Amino acid sequence: MRRFLPGEDLEAALSAAADLTRVGLGTVITQLGEQVRTSAEAATVRNDYRRALDQIRDRALPVHLSVKLTHLGLDVDREACAHNLETLTERAAATSSFVWIDMEESRYVDVTLDLFRRARELRGNVGVCLQAYLRRTSRDLEALAPLGPAIRLVKGAYNEPAAVAFPRKRDVDASYLDLATGLLESAARGAALPAFGTHDLRLISEIRARARGLPGARYEVHMLYGIRTPDQRALAAAGTPVRVLISYGDAWFAWYMRRLAERPANVWFVLRSLA
Ligand code: FDA
Repeated sequence: MRRFLPGEDLEAALSAAADLTRVGLGTVITQLGEQVRTSAEAATVRNDYRRALDQIRDRALPVHLSVKLTHLGLDVDREACAHNLETLTERAAATSSFVWIDMEESRYVDVTLDLFRRARELRGNVGVCLQAYLRRTSRDLEALAPLGPAIRLVKGAYNEPAAVAFPRKRDVDASYLDLATGLLESAARGAALPAFGTHDLRLISEIRARARGLPGARYEVHMLYGIRTPDQRALAAAGTPVRVLISYGDAWFAWYMRRLAERPANVWFVLRSLA
């Protein structure tokens, strides 16, 4: 576990963030958890994140947040969830921080984009994740374009039916590159702030090559803590801004299973470390 999670508490996440800051990497922290069942649980998550932002400010760390809307109560009360999100973007603005909204299963995409739009109308320090495996994503990107949005593009981590998501990896990769190219073109016009959330070095090198052909295209690469660590440092040293997403908290099971599913070799890694 320690390979992917520096520890279960906020302190462990922030001290890992401080270490990464010292070597020139940006960071995003996220408390593990999703689909809470009561407003009280959602309020606790919101308050935890508020405290995290206070600590980020007190320690003068350039750390951003990443949140899941179902962790902030989306399944319980949509308006309360919107309010929780607004509380966080407001506190983040006072902390010079930024809030990324994760994208969950496809049934949440419409409501997630709706709450993103509402938050974005109030403040600029909020971005949303889009998943390249979804057939709808190019349309979503087009619809969001007038906002000049911050978009974190990922391949997508959930089990989705073929009717909504490309089942073949090579189609997902091709979709990722198409969407990334469009985002870079928008970024060159100052009309988008893309973050490419991937460990796929082939895609990253295609993205870097395309960005060189589009002067002024600003973007970041986001990777998960503990995955491709030497490449994170090499990219940053070569001038590509990199942010590392650090997870913390005790609700790690569903998240950890997704990481294992992404790379079967990790299962062997875990079994070896248990042995
Ligand atoms: P791919 O799976 O093709 O992997 C490329 C290479 O990277 C692999 O060959 C392997 O070498 C390495 N690699 C990838 N995953 C690894 C792992 N777990 N362990 C070890 N090596 C690994 N998804 C989502 O649906 N909603 C979201 O909000 C987010 N948010 C998010 C934020 C950030 C910062 C990242 C990096 C990722 C996400 N994801 C996500 C997850 C994303 O959808 C996807 O599942 C993973 O990033 C794995 O896909 P890759 O793009 O890395 O490519």
